[in-house]
Amino acid sequence: MVWIAGAGGVGREALDVALAAGVEVAGFLDDRLAGGLVRGLPVRKPVELPSGAPYLIGIADPAVRARLAAVLDAAGGHPVTLVHPRAIIAPETELAPGCLVMGGAHVSSSVRLGPHSQVHYNATVGHDTRLGARVTVYPGANVSGAVHLEDDSTVGSGAVVLQGRTVGRAAFVGAAATVTRDVPPATTVVGTPARPLARTSPEGVA
Ligand SMILES: CC(C)(COP(=O)(O)OP(=O)(O)OC[C@H]1O[C@@H](n2cnc3c(N)ncnc32)[C@H](O)[C@@H]1OP(=O)(O)O)[C@@H](O)C(=O)NCCC(=O)NCCS
Repeated sequence: MVWIAGAGGVGREALDVALAAGVEVAGFLDDRLAGGLVRGLPVRKPVELPSGAPYLIGIADPAVRARLAAVLDAAGGHPVTLVHPRAIIAPETELAPGCLVMGGAHVSSSVRLGPHSQVHYNATVGHDTRLGARVTVYPGANVSGAVHLEDDSTVGSGAVVLQGRTVGRAAFVGAAATVTRDVPPATTVVGTPARPLARTSPEGVA
């Protein structure tokens, strides 16, 4: 009986994956909704995870995922991976504990997914690609072969990352962007070819 941390959009999508995969879900762990019911399942506070219970984090924000994993591990929980039966996981690909792979995703051969990483529906991940911890590949994104997505990085919906590129730690590739060059850590890039998002300060100076 798996507990899903987060009862928002991704958490409920994780429930859908569990149902399709025939995995029983005990309930949700969510501070904001604790005490209530979501999709007919009880919601508890994360600190109330029964010791030794399996859990999966269904939350998009990698920083929140990191904080929650620490709380849930300290409570004696252990992370499990959920894969939709209509996802393809090719041979020699390894998924660390806590990963979530949604329906229609295709994760090619010899790929490594780090702990608490997520590949959302209809996204593809090419051969020999490495995903660090808490990486997110949003719906319909295409990550080519031999790419390195460093810890806490995110690839937005419909984005393309060309082969061999690195997306740095905690970087964010905007929806529909095409990554043709390495993305520095903690940088948001958008567009085709992808370039850092110019942010304008309140004074109007970029
Ligand atoms: C890139 C992103 C993170 C930027 O978010 P943000 O910091 O809140 O940026 P804003 O919405 O304030 O937009 C800032 C500027 O960037 C532009 N912009 C935002 N996202 C863009 C994108 N993906 N491609 C091109 N331009 C984009 C906006 O038009 C705006 O330009 P303007 O100042 O000329 O009007 C976000 O827009 C994005 O693409 N997120 C991914 C969403 C996604 O895939 N969700 C999946 C959920 S299932």
